[in-house]
Amino acid sequence: LKAWTQVGDLTHELKEKEVLIRGRAQTTRAVGKNMAFVVVREKGFTVQCVVTARPDVVSKQMVKFAAGLSRESIVDIHGVVSVPSIAIKGTTQQVEIQVSKLYCIDKAMPTLPINIEDASRSEKEIEEALGAGEQLVRVNQDTRLNYRVLDFRTSANQGIFRIQCQVCNIFRQFLLSENFVEIHTPKLIAGSSEGGSAVFKLDYKGQAACLAQSPQLHKQMAICGDFGRVFEIGPVFRAEDSYTHRHLCEFTGLDVEMEIKQHYTEVMDIVDHLFVTMFDHLNKKCSKYLEAVGRQYPFEPLKYLPKTLRLRFEEGVQMLKEAGVEIDPYGDLNTESERKLGQLVLEKYGTEFYILHRYPLAVRPFYTMPCYDDPKYSNSFDVFIRGEEIISGAQRVHVPEFLVERAQACGIDVSTISTYIDSFRYGAPPHGGFGAGLERVVMLFCGLNNIRKTSLFPRDPLRIAP
Ligand code: 4AD
Repeated sequence: LKAWTQVGDLTHELKEKEVLIRGRAQTTRAVGKNMAFVVVREKGFTVQCVVTARPDVVSKQMVKFAAGLSRESIVDIHGVVSVPSIAIKGTTQQVEIQVSKLYCIDKAMPTLPINIEDASRSEKEIEEALGAGEQLVRVNQDTRLNYRVLDFRTSANQGIFRIQCQVCNIFRQFLLSENFVEIHTPKLIAGSSEGGSAVFKLDYKGQAACLAQSPQLHKQMAICGDFGRVFEIGPVFRAEDSYTHRHLCEFTGLDVEMEIKQHYTEVMDIVDHLFVTMFDHLNKKCSKYLEAVGRQYPFEPLKYLPKTLRLRFEEGVQMLKEAGVEIDPYGDLNTESERKLGQLVLEKYGTEFYILHRYPLAVRPFYTMPCYDDPKYSNSFDVFIRGEEIISGAQRVHVPEFLVERAQACGIDVSTISTYIDSFRYGAPPHGGFGAGLERVVMLFCGLNNIRKTSLFPRDPLRIAP
């Protein structure tokens, strides 16, 4: 046999067929001297393999060898698929393999810092197991992140990062189909792009520099260079001291910038079509992975509308006011009011995904275009999933003199961004765009409670390894 079968593809249809699989020995159990069970896991899917001593096929030594495999060792298994008469508990696949050959390809050390079975249980399963007096080690988040390579092996994590891969895939495919050009902007830049002090400063051959807080300035410069519509998937660095469930010091930005023909709503149209397409795709094509995530971290599928709700900031303030939450109409929403508004929107409009637009100018970055009809507001928006921000976007100021004025008003040292400002002196089209955080999109789509769960190797103020 040369063709390999994936453990996740082992179904009743393969009954009595000979198969070859590679996976890890998740658990082993001997039953007397003539039989051993090895649960083999591959990419989060598990199958029970039965090693029975049989003359000329499987020796007693082979049974002993199988029962003695250290957990997480890599094994190749040859055998025939069988369907047991009673349902199998504890594996994802409902068939077994009657083993004829078993090879250990690589041996794991005998004791591991994380037990994958324990690390895969839901909170409810942990409570039940502890209640039943089972010996169980609750695997906390720091331990998971310290031994991330082992932690990746849970079915939920296999699902999370495959979903993440599809989010990037749809983002790219959709934008390419809408005539966007993929670009790669520098991550070593001379000064802050979003304002504030949240930059990682560094020495660039004797010159002051920093890690890019976003591709903002360079994606706009690409528009000045006539690329028309651009996007980027790349790292973003923020030095802010935020110890929260949704802030990282390095995350992956999904950025878009485009010419605007008439109105900044054109940018919101792209957000709407792109994300509805993405959610539809994830629900249809990633159900196996969503189920794997939900088994460990139960969540309700995201409620969203075929045409994304757009709410004006002022309407949001009014809804909050009617619900007894007073906020400054020219200030920003805080985490609490964002959540509350998310609830109110869900009750009134039946969606957990919506766009809030026309934010007060005072709370937006210097490059944001004020509203033509009322400069206290701006042509800008944030997008929310389950009451938390995943995107911010806006039309940009493309008039250089005004841009200088706005930068100075926001306390930016204009000399650090002079080449950016000069880009608009050679003729620049009206334009706008947005930036989404990949980890937040996946976290909130899957209803997870911490961004560290959706970052491969998270970087936060306390962690730079592994
Ligand atoms: O709201 P932000 O800071 O906006 C920008 O960077 C603009 N240049 C975008 C634009 O085109 N106007 O960041 C955009 C998104 C946020 O909505 C959030 O999803 C994510 O990036 N984000 C973070 N994700 C993880 N950790 C952090 N510290 C984040 N800060 C922002």
